[in-house]
This record gives sequence, C-alpha cells and structure tokens, in this order.
Amino acid sequence: MFTAHSVVQDVLWRSWSEKKVLLLTATSGKSIYLILTLILLCYFLFLHRALCETFNINMPQNINVVSGSCVIIPCFFDVERNHKNNLDDSCKAYWSNSTSFNSKNAKLKPTKEMTGDLTKKDCTTTFNNASLLQRSKYYFRLECNNSLKYIFTQAGVDISFIDDPPSPTLTPSTLEVEEGASVSLTCSAPAPCWSHPPALTWSPNLGQSQETLQENQDKTKVRTSVMNFTASHLHHGNKISCTAVYQKQDGSPDVTAETSLTPDISNSPKNITVSVSPSGPVPDNSNVSLTCSSNANPAVRNYMWYRADGDQETLIGTGTSLNIQVFRNRRTFFCKAENKLGVERSNVTQLEIHSNCHKHLLIIKCMIISIWLLPILVIPMEAVRVHSFTHRF
Ligand SMILES: *[C@@H]1O[C@H](CO)[C@@H](O)[C@H](O)[C@H]1NC(C)=O
Ligand SMILES: *[C@@H]1O[C@H](CO)[C@@H](O)[C@H](O)[C@H]1NC(C)=O
Ligand SMILES: *[C@@H]1O[C@H](CO)[C@@H](O)[C@H](O)[C@H]1NC(C)=O
Ligand SMILES: *[C@@H]1O[C@H](CO)[C@@H](O)[C@H](O)[C@H]1NC(C)=O
Ligand SMILES: *[C@@H]1O[C@H](CO)[C@@H](O)[C@H](O)[C@H]1NC(C)=O
Ligand SMILES: *[C@@H]1O[C@H](CO)[C@@H](O)[C@H](O)[C@H]1NC(C)=O
Ligand SMILES: *[C@@H]1O[C@H](CO)[C@@H](O)[C@H](O)[C@H]1NC(C)=O
Repeated sequence: MFTAHSVVQDVLWRSWSEKKVLLLTATSGKSIYLILTLILLCYFLFLHRALCETFNINMPQNINVVSGSCVIIPCFFDVERNHKNNLDDSCKAYWSNSTSFNSKNAKLKPTKEMTGDLTKKDCTTTFNNASLLQRSKYYFRLECNNSLKYIFTQAGVDISFIDDPPSPTLTPSTLEVEEGASVSLTCSAPAPCWSHPPALTWSPNLGQSQETLQENQDKTKVRTSVMNFTASHLHHGNKISCTAVYQKQDGSPDVTAETSLTPDISNSPKNITVSVSPSGPVPDNSNVSLTCSSNANPAVRNYMWYRADGDQETLIGTGTSLNIQVFRNRRTFFCKAENKLGVERSNVTQLEIHSNCHKHLLIIKCMIISIWLLPILVIPMEAVRVHSFTHRF
C-alpha cells in the first residue's frame, strides 16, 4: 500500500535532485530562496493530499450534555481513495463505547434522520439523552453494503452528563468605562443540543440585543447574545446579568444558569444640589450654611461656591459647606463640583430673606395711628372736664 510517508519521501527525494540541478544554474541568493519556497510548498501540498486520502475522523474530544436534553455530535470523516465510490446511499452509521463492534452489537444505531449526509462524509449525529449510556467514550462505525466497513478508532468523543448547565460566559467579564461610552456585552452559552439552544435573557435589558448560534472551532455550537448600550451613570454599581434557560426534551423542568457583572461607570458630577441651613426664609444680615452635594465617580475632588449678582458670578469660597452672611441684595448662589472627568454646576439657589424693615414699618404705622387717635380720645375728655366746670357755676 502507498503510505503518506513513502509519498512524502519520494517527493522530497525528487525535490532534492531537482534542487541540485537547479543550484548549478542559480546565480543569485534570490533564486535559491524561491526554489526552497517551492520545495516547501510542494511538500505541504503532497503531505496534505496524502493525509486526506486515508481513513480519518474529526469530532470534538468531549461534550457535556445537559441531562434530559439532546446532544448533537459534530462529526466529519474521510475514507481511503479506493473507497470513494463505496460511499453511497446504503451506508449506515453506528456508534458504540468500544473500539471493536459491528452493526449488530453497536450500542447506538441512529436512523438516517439522526445523521448527516454520509455520502458527503458528514457523520454529525443527534442523540436523545435517553438513548445514551451514563458516561462513555463513543466511536463511529461506517458500514456500507459493499467492502466499505470501518470503525474510526482514530478519535472518539467523550460524552458526560451534567445536571446544572455551565454558566454562560460574559465578554468582557468586567466593565469599567466612562459615561457615554458605547458598550457591547456578549453572553455565550454552549448549545450541545443545537436544535433546542438555550434562550439567553439580559437583566436589565439595557438596549437592543441580538441572538445568534455560532460555531466553535470543533464545530460544537454556542448560543450568543450581544447587547449594545450607552454607558450611563445610572448603570453604575447595578448588576447586569445574562441568564441561559435550557429546555429539556424529556419533559423535566427547564434549568437555568446565570452570569453577571457589576459595571463601574465613571462620570462627571451629576445631580448637583445645594441645601441651605436653616431652611426657609431667613432674616436680613443673618448667617446661613450652604452644602453642595453630587453624584460623581470618582468622587468630587473640589467644590466651588459662587454668588450670582445679576450677570456677574463671583467665586466666594471652596469646600463642601460654606458659611456666609446673606443680605437682601446678595442672596443668589450656586456651586460647582469637579472630578477628573469634568466640572458641573448646580441650579441657582435664591434664598428668601424677610426684611427687618417690616418691624420698622409696623412701628411707624403704630405711631401714625396713635397720632390720629389722640384727638379723638382727648376731645371727649376735655368736653367732660368743661361740662363739670360750668356745672359748678
Ligand atoms: C460500554 O458500556 C457498557 C454499558 O452499557 C459497559 O458495560 C461496558 O463496560 C462499556 N465498555 C467500555 C469499553 O467502556
Ligand atoms: C438522561 O441521562 C441522565 C444521565 O445518564 C439520566 O440520569 C436520566 O435519567 C436520563 N433521562 C432520560 C429521560 O432518559
Ligand atoms: C446489498 O447489496 C446486494 C447486492 O448488491 C443486494 O442484493 C442487497 O439487497 C443489498 N442489501 C441491502 C441491505 O441493501
Ligand atoms: C452592537 O455593536 C457591534 C459593534 O460594537 C455591532 O457590530 C453590532 O451590529 C451591534 N448590534 C446591534 C444589535 O446593534
Ligand atoms: C439626586 O440626588 C438626590 C438626593 O441626593 C437623590 O434622591 C436622587 O435619587 C438623585 N437623582 C439621581 C438621578 O441620581
Ligand atoms: C435644575 O432645574 C431644572 C429645571 O427646573 C430641574 O429639572 C432639575 O431637576 C434641577 N436640578 C437639580 C439637580 O435639582
Ligand atoms: C456671621 O458670620 C460672620 C463671619 O462670617 C461674623 O462676623 C458674624 O458675627 C456672624 N453673625 C451672626 C449673627 O452670627
């Protein structure tokens, strides 16, 4: 039989003799380089062709099956060149947990619907949980109604059962961004039974998400969901989770698995408010304490206080709190909060000041009233006195 090794040796030997002849005529290092490249190219081309024309099989090394669910084993094989024409509709697939078995004692005898197109070298097979053994390594046997009968012992697939599905994978696994950044979170969960892939849900759902079924390198599949959103300070510290729900085909309850992350969203100061103590109207010339607060990440490193007089804004102090004396014409304030991401200002606070003038007005009113009342009170008293006086004479 013609083995891969002898083909390769043959090619190499021929290449070497050719190279010797060519070397005599080659004048520059450039052509030697070219020749060596050609030799390598030929070597790989022939080696590849030789390998492709022997019995060979490709399938994942192991698959975890969620108990009660189905499993699909991705599987592709190749046969020797002289068996090419034997691949026909009569070919059948068999699986067993041993490297020597036949069509009769095979543990699993999938029907045509359960396998891929064997004539296209596709041995991908679907099994229901119920039909599989507890935990085994399975090998594939191809049997056609001709001389092609072969157990592919080159590779087997290790099938295990898990009661709890694996946690989905979140990418990135941590989120540390500035507010306003576009975030794209990807959640993926294996789909061993890809005709019933797990359903992925985001909580909270922060934007549009898109679900797809993707293929790994070993042809097993994963359910993937991508959620895009714009980072906001409102998301900071609030858990974002992705849940995978696996349906069972045997009627037992669904099983779920969850993965989450807590985003760290940095933002310039937000929601800046000024509080005043004492609250409510204060007397003119009195002292009040102003306090500035805000939501910022990282924390505010500097507070600045301003008085707004008409169009003018005057810096009057710094720090979280400020004690100041207020006057009727100096009662409008605001603060600014600064962290490394920026400076933001509060709304303007206008203090209510009750004027001391009210007291003065009251006294003046009292005086006016008293002056007006005086004659009214005095005249009758005078009249009484005159009356008694005349009475005496
Ligand atoms: C195959 O599975 C059967 C159980 O059905 C077990 O008895 C046997 O030992 C297994 N064979 C191998 C080679 O693991
Ligand atoms: C599915 O497989 C597991 C593990 O082998 C087994 O415990 C369970 O009973 C099976 N379920 C059904 C419906 O066969
Ligand atoms: C196998 O092929 C033979 C002859 O080519 C035919 O008589 C026989 O019925 C075939 N068997 C099956 C199972 O197709
Ligand atoms: C999410 O964003 C990525 C790029 O960041 C883009 O390729 C994808 O189409 C977006 N998906 C949706 C549903 O908007
Ligand atoms: C703004 O701050 C107040 C008091 O600190 C708080 O009750 C409120 O939830 C904050 N609003 C936002 C949008 O952060
Ligand atoms: C500032 O004023 C606007 C308009 O009155 C209001 O919507 C907003 O909530 C205020 N901001 C704060 C931090 O109180
Ligand atoms: C108000 O504060 C100023 C200093 O900021 C102080 O001189 C004044 O005595 C205080 N007035 C009252 C009524 O506490």
